[in-house]
Amino acid sequence: MITGKFPSLRLRRSRKNKWSRRLIEENNLSTSDFILPIFLVDGKNKKQNIKSMPKVYRYSLDKINRIIDNAIQIGLPMIALFPFTQSNKKNFLGTEALNENNLVCKAIQQIKKKYKNEIGIMCDVALDPYTSHGHDGILKSGYVLNDETLKILIDQSLLQAQLGCDVLSPSDMMDGRIGEIRKALDKNGHQMTQILSYAVKYASNFYGPFRDAVGSKGVLIGNKKNYQMDYKNADEALREVALDIKEGADMVMVKPGLPYLDIIRSVKNNFKIPVMAYQVSGEYSLLSSGINKGLINENAILESLIAFKRAGANAIVSYYADRINKILK
Ligand code: PBG
Repeated sequence: MITGKFPSLRLRRSRKNKWSRRLIEENNLSTSDFILPIFLVDGKNKKQNIKSMPKVYRYSLDKINRIIDNAIQIGLPMIALFPFTQSNKKNFLGTEALNENNLVCKAIQQIKKKYKNEIGIMCDVALDPYTSHGHDGILKSGYVLNDETLKILIDQSLLQAQLGCDVLSPSDMMDGRIGEIRKALDKNGHQMTQILSYAVKYASNFYGPFRDAVGSKGVLIGNKKNYQMDYKNADEALREVALDIKEGADMVMVKPGLPYLDIIRSVKNNFKIPVMAYQVSGEYSLLSSGINKGLINENAILESLIAFKRAGANAIVSYYADRINKILK
C-alpha cells in the first residue's frame, strides 16, 4: 500500500507551500459540524458565570434568543438544552423531569414558537438534573434500578417530544431504553422525532465542570459506574452501539471525546451510521484554562476538534460552538 522511497519520494515536497498543503487536506470542519449546549437557569435577565467553565454561562429564558440568533447566523444545525435545577426542585425520584412547566419544557416551546425548524433542538433524557442524589435514574440501596427508571424516561421523552423537541438524547445508559422510547414515540404519533443515543458513555472523570453547571456538583452520591461504561473497555462499546441501532437509534454518541478517539473510529468502522462525539466539560475547561494560562496557544482548540473528524465523527457537541466560526477562520 505504501509505495516509493527516499530520495525519489520526499513527503515534505507537498508540505512546502500553503496551497499545496491545502490541496492535500484530508479532513476539515465547518460550522455544520457543531452542536451548541446551552445551560438554562430560572429567573429573569440572568447570565451567570460558571466558575469551572470559562466563557460558558447559564442563561434565563428571556436571554436565550440572542444565543440562538447567533447559532443560526453562524450556521450551527442544532442546540442542546441543559437545565440548572435549584435544590428545592430536586427530590429522590426526580419528579421535576415530568413537570411540563420545567425549565427545559418552557425553553422548547419558546424556541419552537420563534424559530420553527431553523435550528434543531436536542434534549437529554435522564433524571440527573432533577434527583436529589444526582443519579440518572431511580436509586435503591445505592443501585440505579433499570426497568423502573425506563418508565420515567419514556414519559420524559414523550413530554419533550410533544412540546417540540426534535432530537431526544438518552444519556442515562439504562439497558433497553432506546427500544422502549422508540416504541412509545411511534405509538403516540412522534414517528419523526429522532433519537440520538448516548450509546457509549463512559463513567468519566471529565464531567466535573458540567455537574457544576447544572447544579449537581457535590450532590452525587457515589459514582455512576453501575450504569455508565468502564473506561477500560473498548469492545463493549460495539455491543452497546449494536443494541441501540437494533432498537431504533438514528445516531449514536461517544462520550467523552478526545480520550476516546479509538472508540469513535471503531464505531464508525463497524457501523456505517452517524456518529457524534461530545467534547465534554472537562476537556473544554482543561483546554481553555491551559490557553488562559499561556501554557498552550489557542490553535490547540482547532487541533483537538479536527482530531474528532479524523477519528470519524460526523459532528461534535462542543462548548466552543458559539465561537466556532472564529476558531475555524
Ligand atoms: C447527564 C449528563 C452528563 C453530561 C451530559 N449529560 C453528566 C453525567 O453523566 O454525569 C456531561 C457533559 C459534560 O461533561 O460536558 N446525564
